[in-house]
Amino acid sequence: MTKLLDLLEMKILSILHPKKCWNKPIRLQIETTNYCNLNCKMCLRNFFKIKRFGFLSYDNFLKIAKQFPRVRHIELYGLGESFLHKDIFKMISYFKNKDVKITTNGLPINKNMAEKIVNSNLTQINFSVDANEELYKQSRRSVLFNKLKENISYLVNLRNNNNSKLIISISIVALETNKQYLKDFVNLASELNVDHATIQEVNSLWYGKSVNVEKEVSETLKYSKENNVKLNYVRNPVKGKKICPEPFFGTYITWEGYVTPCCMLPSSDQINFGNVLEKSFKKIWNNLKYQKFRRKISRGVPEVCRGCPLIRRE
Ligand SMILES: C[S@@+](CC[C@H](N)C(=O)[O-])C[C@H]1O[C@@H](n2cnc3c(N)ncnc32)[C@H](O)[C@@H]1O
Ligand code: SF4
Ligand code: SF4
Repeated sequence: MTKLLDLLEMKILSILHPKKCWNKPIRLQIETTNYCNLNCKMCLRNFFKIKRFGFLSYDNFLKIAKQFPRVRHIELYGLGESFLHKDIFKMISYFKNKDVKITTNGLPINKNMAEKIVNSNLTQINFSVDANEELYKQSRRSVLFNKLKENISYLVNLRNNNNSKLIISISIVALETNKQYLKDFVNLASELNVDHATIQEVNSLWYGKSVNVEKEVSETLKYSKENNVKLNYVRNPVKGKKICPEPFFGTYITWEGYVTPCCMLPSSDQINFGNVLEKSFKKIWNNLKYQKFRRKISRGVPEVCRGCPLIRRE
């Protein structure tokens, strides 16, 4: 099914490219804040200087959200921790009847917040973890691995007791340091009884070096099948695609309102197509800058994308 959708998406792309985009984005990612309670080793935050920190105000959130009445998939997080935002539950409930997903480091979620999550319209919550306590200390630079496990277990139990449809998952960024321990990650998913687990390829655009994890990932996929754990392997963006779909089907909005092509380019200082708090998204989506970027990505490698795994493979 995914393959069919991919093919369809590529067909549409080939009709649409290289200039105007007649469709509106189907995926919207809103960075609610770029503040974070952690400082993970591999996080994009370490690889460029963030000049301004802040929270997207609820008023500005409304100004943005109202411009996307038809968008289906919403991701309410960016280069920070969304559960630090005091209005995060108001933001989630704005998108009732949509597919709303948050990826979180899970540490700010107390019991009261867990209740709110289970009773909200959030479709999926994904917890970023590592394979074990020692590796978590190394990559996430935190000693709170067991606290995180407690938080996830608490939410899973609450969800199960409340007949909620919330999807709960965990993810790991595959690195040289943890690739031999990916089976521990599968065991963790099983122990926590989450719905599925994801191995995320590191975004070497920022990380600086590519990481070869293919052998370990394929062994782990086999192991997960034997142990009845649903496991995905997510590459950024998708291996083998000739044209990156991001500037055609998705959009990323920073906490300041800047529009960038994707979550791999979350710094408005590096690239942005305009600010939705100053100009309508409708105008920005097909302005000259966006069109030029689409044309470039259809024909080659835009400078800012150099190092992105999609480009690296071609
Ligand atoms: C940037 S974080 C923001 C949300 C939240 N703070 C968290 O850690 O889940 C979003 C996801 O990106 C992952 N991530 C961090 N650094 C990465 C990298 N260099 N390449 C790919 N994914 C990365 C995190 O593990 C997390 O799952
Ligand atoms: S990966 Fe998430 S938790 Fe870690 S520093 Fe980045 S934004 Fe914060
Ligand atoms: S960095 Fe460029 S190639 Fe990579 S996902 Fe973003 S737009 Fe696509």
